[in-house]
Order: sequence, then C-alpha cells, then structure tokens
Amino acid sequence: MYAFDIAAGSKPDLYRDLLAACDAVTAGEPDGVANMANVASLLWQYLPDLNWAGFYRNVGDELVLGPFQGKAACIRIPFGRGVCGAAAATRQTQLVADVHAFPGHIACDAASRAELVVPIVSGDRVVAVIDLDSPEPSRFDEEDAAGIEQIARLLTDRVNS
Ligand code: SME
Repeated sequence: MYAFDIAAGSKPDLYRDLLAACDAVTAGEPDGVANMANVASLLWQYLPDLNWAGFYRNVGDELVLGPFQGKAACIRIPFGRGVCGAAAATRQTQLVADVHAFPGHIACDAASRAELVVPIVSGDRVVAVIDLDSPEPSRFDEEDAAGIEQIARLLTDRVNS
C-alpha cells in the first residue's frame, strides 16, 4: 500500500509533494501503462475540483485514450483537434479558462468548463499528454501549469513500455 503525505496548503507545496509521490510510484517501473495509471490516480486523489484526470498517448501520430479517472472519454483525437490535440501539435501547455470559448473543444463530459493539457515531450516527439478537466471555470492557473509540467518532465522516460 502507498500512503502519501500531500500538503494541502499552497499550490507550490502541493505540487512539490505530488511530484515526489509521482516519482515514488513510477521510479524503476518500466511499464508505461502502470505508471500512467498510478499517476492518474494521484492527480485525481490530490488535486481538488477535477472531473477528469488522465493521459492520451501518441499512437501513430494520433492521440489515443490512456489511463484516467473520471467518466468514459473520447478514444481518438487527431493532432490539432481540441485542447489535447492543440497541446500535441504545438508541444505547448494549453491552459484554458473556459472550454466553451476554445475553438474545436471536444466535450467528453458536458460538466467540463476549464482544462489544462500538458505535453510529455521526449526529444522533439510528443509521447503523451496529461489532461485535467474541471467543472469550475478558471480552475487552473500558471502554478498548476508549472506543477503539471514538472510531472510531465519526470514522466518523459516512464510512459513508454
Ligand atoms: N476536452 C478534450 C478532450 C479530452 S476530454 O476532456 C477527456 C479536448 O478538447 O481535447
């Protein structure tokens, strides 16, 4: 059993502890699916006000649903489509305060209002994206983006199997 002591105070403290927890559950484990599954669980458990947390993987230059927590979601997303596709195509974090205002947003859960998508990049290749959704508009800010980007860097060599 894993037990983590995650600070619930400031976001930097929360993300410091969450990064350490993600490191602990993935270090030395070569199976990418297992690593994504445990990280999706940690994101879901410790980040407040989410309705979806998980991964899409780059399979043949198309995003394919990976391990996640939340409602069943769209399975395949072309690069360039929606928020996840934009993150994959640009290799840039997408911080969206209101998904209704994002052209091409793909509504997997009608409750979603804010979204944060961070690419996991190895060399010049996107290997996967981390996707967080929230029912609260403007739920995510630059501190959330920075925290998830650190987790994405940690996972660069840990999500392939
Ligand atoms: N809303 C995303 C699709 C994935 S779901 O949120 C899980 C998008 O526009 O890329």
